[in-house]
Amino acid sequence: MAAFSQDFRSKRKTIGFVPTMGALHAGHLSLMRVARRENDVVVVSIFVNPLQFGPQEDFRRYPRDMKRDFRLCLKEGVDVIFFPDVRQMYPKEYKTQVTVEGLSDRLCGEFRPGHFKGVATVVAKLFNIVGPNIAYLGQKDAQQALIIAKLAEDLNMPLKVKIMPTVRERDGLAMSSRNIYLKPEERKDACVLYQALSLARELIKQGHEDCAYVIKKMRQLIQTKKTCRIQYVAIVDTKSLQSLKIIKKGALIALAVKIGSTRLIDNIIV
Ligand code: PAJ
Repeated sequence: MAAFSQDFRSKRKTIGFVPTMGALHAGHLSLMRVARRENDVVVVSIFVNPLQFGPQEDFRRYPRDMKRDFRLCLKEGVDVIFFPDVRQMYPKEYKTQVTVEGLSDRLCGEFRPGHFKGVATVVAKLFNIVGPNIAYLGQKDAQQALIIAKLAEDLNMPLKVKIMPTVRERDGLAMSSRNIYLKPEERKDACVLYQALSLARELIKQGHEDCAYVIKKMRQLIQTKKTCRIQYVAIVDTKSLQSLKIIKKGALIALAVKIGSTRLIDNIIV
């Protein structure tokens, strides 16, 4: 992969990069499409990164289907699919971890200790190997995108991070590789995440400014669904992820809900 990249760069070709864990869906494909439009070369990585899964999480059962993923990448005109194995990325003597302080322990970080350290570490490695001009990330994982942009900036990586809109199912559920875990009843209930975000948007449009009130209304709506257990509902500053008391322009409204054994997240910016 590194040799390919060096060759592309020596020919002054721009490289667009989409890091993924595979089990590709329309959200991933939308990132590839923009990358295709904006670059000479498109690289997609497919790597289920053990470092970002907690001991009780779904690393083993995370969906993997290389054949299907390859087909989808080729259809989108991807030039290189980089799929290292765990031993290549983390040989026995592997030692280095990357932590983006402050941003990593809020929101999802509270419920997934070590998760963002695993993400930052693998993405730093991928950026160094692939050497992209532009990396494309999804707004769906807003905190992750923020952390990755910060890591690239702080470590002086010569690339631009672009954050693209969340792709949704018809009923508003954000596309996710984990949606396939949902049982039929859970799948029906899952649309409440986006409904709660839409409710927040509506309340704010009506003039409500008190974050505690908006959060209370969102929680009440989610709690009407039997299969849902809220992890957090938060309204935060988009840059610092600090909680807001009063809504301001560009606030991030984010939530995480466990539906059965599946953890789903979603967010909007208002
Ligand atoms: P993964 O969950 O496979 O997501 C890969 C990229 O697709 C991420 O940037 C994610 O935000 C984006 N994405 C996921 N669902 C989306 C949707 N519905 N609409 C738009 N974009 C969406 O995120 C990861 O993998 C990993 O943590 C990774 C960054 C690859 C590091 O291992």
